[in-house]
Amino acid sequence: MIVCHCNRLTDHDIRRAVDELITDVPLQMITPRTVYNSLSKPARCGGCFPLALKVITEHLAARMAEAGTPKRAQPVVADRAALAAE
Ligand code: FES
Repeated sequence: MIVCHCNRLTDHDIRRAVDELITDVPLQMITPRTVYNSLSKPARCGGCFPLALKVITEHLAARMAEAGTPKRAQPVVADRAALAAE
């Protein structure tokens, strides 16, 4: 799935970049800008940032679940649509 149309980044590109980032520096904050910088892609319009953040957060949560991290220590995946409906 294309996440960033300006840079033609897919969800796979983002997940791979997150894996490399946390391998290099495990305790760092990973944002869309961090990921794009690691891929040498500029953040242009920023319209993709909410979806990129969702991909990053879901991937980190999945990795932490695989590693057996307690659920209370896993990142919260914010679903804006669900929050807006509340
Ligand atoms: S769609 Fe990603 S920077 Fe524009």
